[in-house]
Amino acid sequence: MSRMGMCVWVMLALVLAGSAGRASGSGFLANGPLPPVPVPADNPQTDAKIRLGRALYFEPRLSADNTISCATCHNPKTGWANITPTDTGIGKQVGDRNSGTIVNSAYMQFQFWDGRAGSLEEQALGPIHNPIEMGETLDNVVRKLNAIPGYRDMFQDVFGTDATTDGIAKAIAAFERTIVSGPSPYSRYLAGDREAMSPAAVRGQALFNGKGHCSACHSGPLFSDQGFHNLGVGMQVASPNPGRQKVTNKPGDLGRYKTPTLLNVAVTAPFLHDGSEKTLLDVMMFYNRGGVPNPNLDPQMLPLALTKKEMQDLVAFMEALTGTYPVMEAPPLPPDSPASAETGKGGAL
Ligand code: HEC
Ligand code: HEC
Repeated sequence: MSRMGMCVWVMLALVLAGSAGRASGSGFLANGPLPPVPVPADNPQTDAKIRLGRALYFEPRLSADNTISCATCHNPKTGWANITPTDTGIGKQVGDRNSGTIVNSAYMQFQFWDGRAGSLEEQALGPIHNPIEMGETLDNVVRKLNAIPGYRDMFQDVFGTDATTDGIAKAIAAFERTIVSGPSPYSRYLAGDREAMSPAAVRGQALFNGKGHCSACHSGPLFSDQGFHNLGVGMQVASPNPGRQKVTNKPGDLGRYKTPTLLNVAVTAPFLHDGSEKTLLDVMMFYNRGGVPNPNLDPQMLPLALTKKEMQDLVAFMEALTGTYPVMEAPPLPPDSPASAETGKGGAL
């Protein structure tokens, strides 16, 4: 982006910050353009590391029976998320949470719906040894990768060591930091292209910051305050999932979940942490009812008295948040060993 263009973005963000402040006493941030991806000092981005991370992301041999990769549940063709309410891992076991998209995860301070991991590095090993996701031990994954000459060479090249759990986590995280969204109708509108959003989306934007009260939580360039809130999702049962409380042990965190980004939300149905709502309009009807009553319901959750048309306008606005994002096939993966490559046999090690 040119320096001139950058100035316009900054000025617009400032103008919007000023006007958005009116809608809420809490002074939330403007929904401006995305800043550069934050990169931790101990895991700088390099081309070779990103290539290794990409191979590992698409690598079914990270799972116990060599059938499930990260891409199985976070599929590039379905917005780097999954189309089912919850996921099916190894041995056809079904989990209880909806797999969010990994697009823009690089910007989030917390990973998972309950925020139990901080960095992408911390997150990446979780699914490998989760018994119902990839079900493999970390020791075994390291052993398997070191038995594949192509991987051993790549790890040596990137980290100067054989494969390690630390190296696996760093390479996958570096790859995920490249999966971020680009311009959307909304960002072009923000930059001054008044034709970029439909009239419905423009009305939806006003509702989002006003009557709908959405920006109380969905704030900032990511449309997330990076906080945790109880909307009552899943709270109607006798002993509900504790959500954030399981991580912090604080009673006030019962039933709280991370505010997800709304960038590209339109391509990652179904919605909410348990995948319980099918369409964005269904989610709007959920909000219009004020969520599900429970003792820990967030005070910002109130019946909204939105009309059907207003809910449709909010959906049109969220659709305008769909930016470009990378879509790719699995790269060629290193063969098990020269012998098995010659005979064309892959499979178990
Ligand atoms: C069997 C399906 C499955 C597999 C395989 C899987 N994930 Fe996930 N992933 C999920 C689910 C479900 C969640 C949400 C879980 C939760 O929040 O408790 C999730 C959450 C995440 C998140 C956090 C997203 C957010 O918005 O908080 C990231 C990042 C992620 N996975 C990356 C990966 C990587 C990297 C791999 C491979 C090493 C992987 N996943 C393998 C199902 C899967
Ligand atoms: C009190 C804070 C809060 C308010 C107000 C709020 N949200 Fe949310 N939003 C959240 C949280 C937290 C979740 C995840 C809840 C869960 O799954 O348990 C969420 C989930 C969503 C989702 C589902 C995203 C996904 O990836 O599954 C959409 C869409 C959404 N919100 C849009 C809106 C809109 C539009 C409004 C205004 C009408 C709004 N939100 C108001 C906090 C809030």
